[in-house]
Amino acid sequence: MVSNKAVLAFLTTLSLPSLGAADCSRAVLVSAAESYIAAQANGALGDLAKLLTSDYKYRENNKAADVKTGVLATALQIAHNKTTADTVACASYTELIATTPKPYVIGTQLRHTADGAQVTLIDTIAATTGSLSFNAAQTLAYIEAEDWSPITDAAQQPSRALLQQTADAYLDMWTNASAYDAVPWGTPCERIEGSARNSPCTVGAPRGGFTNRISDRRYVIDPEMGSIDVLCNFAAVGGVADSHEFRLEKGKLRYVHTITL
Ligand SMILES: *[C@@H]1O[C@H](CO)[C@@H](O)[C@H](O)[C@H]1NC(C)=O
Ligand SMILES: *[C@@H]1O[C@H](CO)[C@@H](O)[C@H](O)[C@H]1NC(C)=O
Repeated sequence: MVSNKAVLAFLTTLSLPSLGAADCSRAVLVSAAESYIAAQANGALGDLAKLLTSDYKYRENNKAADVKTGVLATALQIAHNKTTADTVACASYTELIATTPKPYVIGTQLRHTADGAQVTLIDTIAATTGSLSFNAAQTLAYIEAEDWSPITDAAQQPSRALLQQTADAYLDMWTNASAYDAVPWGTPCERIEGSARNSPCTVGAPRGGFTNRISDRRYVIDPEMGSIDVLCNFAAVGGVADSHEFRLEKGKLRYVHTITL
C-alpha cells in the first residue's frame, strides 16, 4: 500500500519545478536578511554582496541611491532586529533599531529572484534624527515590550488576503472616509509611530479628508508572523517615505509600527 506521505512526496517532487520558486523558502529569505543585518552592523556589504544580482538596485527613502554612500555604508550597533518572510512574493522585511553611534530606525525589504537565490532590490526606509516623532531609544523600549512570536497554529494565522485588505484599508483611511470601518481593529491594539505609543491604535486615525492616495505600495506578507509590511509614498501627507507594518492576531489588528521620514 502506498502511504499518503509517499504520494504527497511524489506530488511535491513533480510540482515543485513548475512553481519556479522551489527555493524561496523562509530559511533562504531569513538567511539573506541575516546577511543584510550583518552588512548594516559592519557598514559594508560583506556576504550580502555574494547574493546580489549584477544589476541589483538600491533604494533609500523611495529614491534610487548609491549603496556606497547610503545608510548601509554606516556601521550601526544593532539593538533590535526582526525579520518577516514572504515565501510567495520571494521577499523579506527587516526592522532594525540602532541607538549608537547614530540613532536609526530602519525598515528594509529585500526582493529576490523567483528561485530565491539572489537579491534584486534592497529597498530601505531609514529614519534618523529629524524624522517624525523620532527617538530611537524610546521606539526600542516600546517595541521590545511587544510579543511578536510566530503564530504556530496554522488555523490562527491570518490569510494573505486578510493581511493585504487590512493594510490597504488602513492606508486608504486618509483618502477614503469609509476605509476606517473596513479595518479589523483589535482590542487591545497599539501603534508605535516613531517614538509615540498610541493605544488604542484608533487614536488619530483619519476618516478621509486628504486628497492624494498613499501610493507606490510594496508589500511583504507573512501569515506565520501575522504580519504585513508596506513601504510606500505617503502621498496623503506631503509624499514622505514611509513604512507601515501591521500584525494581526486572531484576525484583528494588534500592532502597527510606522517609520516616517
Ligand atoms: C537579531 O535578533 C535576535 C533575537 O531576536 C538575536 O538573537 C540576534 O543576535 C540579532 N542579530 C543581530 C545581528 O543583532
Ligand atoms: C473606500 O473604502 C471602502 C471600504 O474598504 C471600499 O468598499 C470602497 O470601495 C472604497 N472606495 C474607494 C473609492 O476606493
